[in-house]
Amino acid sequence: MSKRRDLLYEGKAKKVYAAEDPALCVVEYKDDATALDGAKKGSIPGKGAINNRLTNHFMTLLEKSGVATHYAQELNDRETLVKKVEIVPLEVIARNIAAGSLAKRLGLTEGFQMSRPVLEFCYKSDALGDPMVNEYHIAAMGWASPEEVSFIARSALRINEILTGYLKGFGVELVDFKLEFGRLPGGSLLLADEISPDTCRFWDSKTGEKLDKDRFRRDMGGVEGAYQEIYRRIFERVEG
Ligand code: TMP
Ligand code: ASP
Repeated sequence: MSKRRDLLYEGKAKKVYAAEDPALCVVEYKDDATALDGAKKGSIPGKGAINNRLTNHFMTLLEKSGVATHYAQELNDRETLVKKVEIVPLEVIARNIAAGSLAKRLGLTEGFQMSRPVLEFCYKSDALGDPMVNEYHIAAMGWASPEEVSFIARSALRINEILTGYLKGFGVELVDFKLEFGRLPGGSLLLADEISPDTCRFWDSKTGEKLDKDRFRRDMGGVEGAYQEIYRRIFERVEG
């Protein structure tokens, strides 16, 4: 880091620092990787820089399509300025193809193509294992208002459409992904957190090869290579 900054928060994959402008903060992406709510720990060399650049690329793409995000400015390889928000304590999962916990819960074969996207909400709590909740729990606990939940659901479906179409152009299926939203001081909602191989399932369209963090979660090997492959596909084309 070029400058001393006050650490506001350290998560499993990122650190958040105060910025000079109190309306912003600096996110630093780490190479640390965890799974099973932090119980499994490791490191994926180069991951921080890849996730930083991929997240910023996707957020810029979404902004161009009218989705408001927290993205402000990429500072360097691993650090990005973002708008300071109060994170809504929900993980919003959008799914196109059955995989992971959905496949397990409903006894589906991974790869089952669903007839329409599925949205799920989880309460953000490692201690509780991010339990799945519905609109009633969310309103009753005061985590978000019904209007906010409906805005978040509409945004997540729109983001799914945009990213699914974009990634197909690179031979990548967007199987599922996790989003987080935050509130600005005035209350308006923005897409926050990250969109990366840590938080999405990316499968090669032809071979079905996994190009995401499942390789780490499932001890499959080839973890760094998978992150590099997603990065290469997108940036080689974008940067010519
Ligand atoms: P799941 O099938 O394990 O519920 O995961 C669904 C999607 O959410 C998958 O793309 C990975 C992502 N995810 C996170 O980003 N953070 C998490 O803590 C978990 C469990 C999943
Ligand atoms: N966020 C989860 C954890 O740290 C990891 C995952 O993506 O599965 O345990």
